[in-house]
Amino acid sequence: MTRARRPFYVGTNFKMHQTPAETAAFITGLRPALGDTLVGHEDVRLFVIPPFTSLPAAVPAAADAGLPLWVGAQTMHQATEGAYTGEISARMLQAVGVDLVLLGHAERRALFAESDAALSAKVPAALGAGFQSLLCVGETAEEKGFGVGPETVARQLKVALSGVDAAHLPNLLVAYEPVWSIGASGTPARPDDVMGVADAIRGALGDRFGAAGAEVPVLYGGSVSVDNCGGFVALQHIDGLFIGRAAWTVDGFAAVLAAALDAR
Ligand code: PGA
Repeated sequence: MTRARRPFYVGTNFKMHQTPAETAAFITGLRPALGDTLVGHEDVRLFVIPPFTSLPAAVPAAADAGLPLWVGAQTMHQATEGAYTGEISARMLQAVGVDLVLLGHAERRALFAESDAALSAKVPAALGAGFQSLLCVGETAEEKGFGVGPETVARQLKVALSGVDAAHLPNLLVAYEPVWSIGASGTPARPDDVMGVADAIRGALGDRFGAAGAEVPVLYGGSVSVDNCGGFVALQHIDGLFIGRAAWTVDGFAAVLAAALDAR
């Protein structure tokens, strides 16, 4: 592929899968599974986002992995502390040594009421705490049916990024995950589906941050597989992949990564 080289990001969200021991085994097994896949791709950054309970095991395993690997949390509460049963704050994640926080995943939005308004507080809080902050946006099947995918992601970005300080922009990443494409019951997207919305995401980042918005990595996610990943990474505005179930084994992760780097 002949496009200007930008950093490239490939990671997976374990969702509610894997114990601490299983997560540590995954991370330890990644390097041998990757072999020389990353040779010549020194600008690639990998990340793994396990459940909260796996984070204390994942952080030291990642430090020993010999890979450019971030460990991320699946969400974070915006308050420093308080009466928020079941929630986790930035300070708690900092104490564990987490690198990244995922915010606004479609399952958090749909099943746990993670709203745009809450995200407008969470994203600045995560960035302010020094985390790489991966914000997910994406339209539902209904919104796609009405042809408002581009407007939907632009609105989600406008609200979630409203309080972001431009100085924190280097730690922001955006994942475009069409809700209709996620999970075993989802319909895999085609690159044509992704292109227009990825343009809208890039446009919204430019509207909000000017030229600096062009530097924010935009990842694609939703039923990414070894067979379809090449079509997504070849798109102009896509800087990486956010993978679910296809990357929950080290061999699966390694296979998608290798295919993506080939198509880059
Ligand atoms: P999937 O998950 O690749 O299994 O569709 C993607 C995601 O939810 O981020």
